Amino acid sequence: MATLAEQFRLPIRMRRNRRTEAIRSLVRETELKPSDLIAPLFLIEGKRKKMPIASMPGTARLSVDLALEEAARLHNQGIQAVALFPYIDRSLKTQGAEEAWNDGGLILRAIREFKQAIPSLCLIADVALDPYTSHGHDGLADGSGKILNDETIECLVKMAVAQAESGVDLVAPSDMMDGRVKRIREGLDSSGFQDVGILSYSAKYASSLYAPFRDAVDSRLAFGDKKTYQMDPANAREALLEAALDEEEGADILMVKPASLYLDVIARLRQTTQRPIAAYHVSGEYAMVMAAHQMGWLDARKVFYETLLSIKRAGADMIFTYAVDPILDALM
Ligand code: PBG
Repeated sequence: MATLAEQFRLPIRMRRNRRTEAIRSLVRETELKPSDLIAPLFLIEGKRKKMPIASMPGTARLSVDLALEEAARLHNQGIQAVALFPYIDRSLKTQGAEEAWNDGGLILRAIREFKQAIPSLCLIADVALDPYTSHGHDGLADGSGKILNDETIECLVKMAVAQAESGVDLVAPSDMMDGRVKRIREGLDSSGFQDVGILSYSAKYASSLYAPFRDAVDSRLAFGDKKTYQMDPANAREALLEAALDEEEGADILMVKPASLYLDVIARLRQTTQRPIAAYHVSGEYAMVMAAHQMGWLDARKVFYETLLSIKRAGADMIFTYAVDPILDALM
């Protein structure tokens, strides 16, 4: 009587490579490591202040002193980069977003303190007007509510140069105005900041997944939506074109955002650029999983690990994520 195995005589048994954790680790194609992750930090004024963000359980807005302690803790665990996002008091928000390049303002002070306290940490700052405009849009608006491209870019250049003067390593334009990378590059170069890099939010979609972030920085829109500058979620070829333009204009790193719903875009961009790709695992992607976790419906740590592994498998080199702590736990 032939055994079942003899009857089957399967020359190829895929399960042989899955038999033990040791073998699985040998054949593993993608690996997440702490230096793949970029931790966003929300900043507020004050000392020893911590304001939890209700829609993003486990995160909080921190005064700069606490944010520094948080960054040092993460850096000790292998995190190499943080992205700073300021929570700007309503009274400082204006039509012209002037607070964005105010030398005494929260973001520039924070950049200086961070650079001085933890010089080896890569410091990234957003370049977009939304935390500073009274209406919450990323650009200047005219009387009819139209977002003005070229006028906005003048502001972004001032903002980027001010951030560079304060010590930022990478400026990250997240506004989606046309031609901003080129003008920011020129502005940085003509001010002596040839070495400051541009991480461009190249393919940033008009996504409903940014809602918790807008709570976190109090940038809810006073009118309209961001569809005249952020991309239509229906389009992928357009994302490749956006990225190619940013590359031509001098971007050092290209971003796709959000991440997990746009893995096709990341994978396609991986085929068409030799530049590093960043992906932003955004606030809504974090909030959905945390909400289900709190209901006891899934294990956030495992879901985050799988999600970020998938983002990397799709072709991202680095990932902005609020789930840094759960991921570091998963990597232990
Ligand atoms: C600002 C900016 C946004 C995010 C990063 N930079 C929000 C937006 O464009 O409305 C979103 C990040 C997130 O949701 O985690 N331009």
